[in-house]
Amino acid sequence: MKNQIEQLKKEKNAVILAHYYAPATLQEIADFVGDSFYLAKIAKQSDADIIVFCGVKFMGESAKILNQDKKVLMPDLTADCAMAHMVKNGIIDEMKAKYDDLAVVCYINSTAELKGISDVCVTSSNAVKIVKALPNKNIFFIPDRNLGRFVAKQVREKNIILNDGCCPIHAKITANQLISLKERYPKAKVLSHPECNPAVLELSDYIGSTADIIAFAKKDKALEYIICTECGVDYKLITDNPHKHFYYPEPLPCCKDMKLNTLESVLSVLKREDKEVTISEDICQKAIIPLNRMLELGC
Ligand code: 13P
Ligand code: SF4
Repeated sequence: MKNQIEQLKKEKNAVILAHYYAPATLQEIADFVGDSFYLAKIAKQSDADIIVFCGVKFMGESAKILNQDKKVLMPDLTADCAMAHMVKNGIIDEMKAKYDDLAVVCYINSTAELKGISDVCVTSSNAVKIVKALPNKNIFFIPDRNLGRFVAKQVREKNIILNDGCCPIHAKITANQLISLKERYPKAKVLSHPECNPAVLELSDYIGSTADIIAFAKKDKALEYIICTECGVDYKLITDNPHKHFYYPEPLPCCKDMKLNTLESVLSVLKREDKEVTISEDICQKAIIPLNRMLELGC
């Protein structure tokens, strides 16, 4: 299958992008692997005719919005991020009516429609930098309350209004699970994604995006780490640091939607070109503005 994928990629001038949560077999064959910010930048710069995005829907949609003339395919169009939909209808208008000088800051883990009614997008690796750079005093941060709270702690000069959304996978990691892991592995450093609950973040030695966690573990001198994010990062952590040990909360944090991407489905979509990301022209024109603003402010 890997040989067939390679051949089809060449024939069709296609490129494969995979998030760190995609299955290891796909991270192995992908042309680019990264966090959501890196992959959005790569998608924008790509000169391939076809982008195959091994991730979840908001990632494929962002690639399409940034490359409207290209074919963006997803191995499984049903792979979605539950948090992307966690903004109540009408709440943005309510907040705009309530607060003067309000910027709607939209985590990239959101639908294209939500992006279209936001001022700027952010990812977990650039949210603090971008919120700091905005001229507005009031910020409505959607959809993730945990990332929003993490940003608020570091940008004290702004009034950050939180929305009640979260990642069901990260929110399931509890402080108690982490405390028992710390008792079992007292020398391990705790590296967490900002989508985790505040009680978990309080107990962490380092908080960052998937790419930041991976970079930290590579540079740091410790030999053991407790990783509070989705288990897909293990492939890169182990590849980069074969002599180090990585432990995860139990039950293992696993994003089932990310795992819908398989070698079989990549091969099939490359052959058939049937699972194309489509977004209406109107939504694309609106959503590209906050995405481009993120690329300008976040780099
Ligand atoms: P990154 O911003 O680290 O890619 O994380 C995306 C994500 O979906 C986390 O759950
Ligand atoms: Fe969405 Fe959570 Fe899966 Fe990330 S891990 S894609 S936030 S459901």
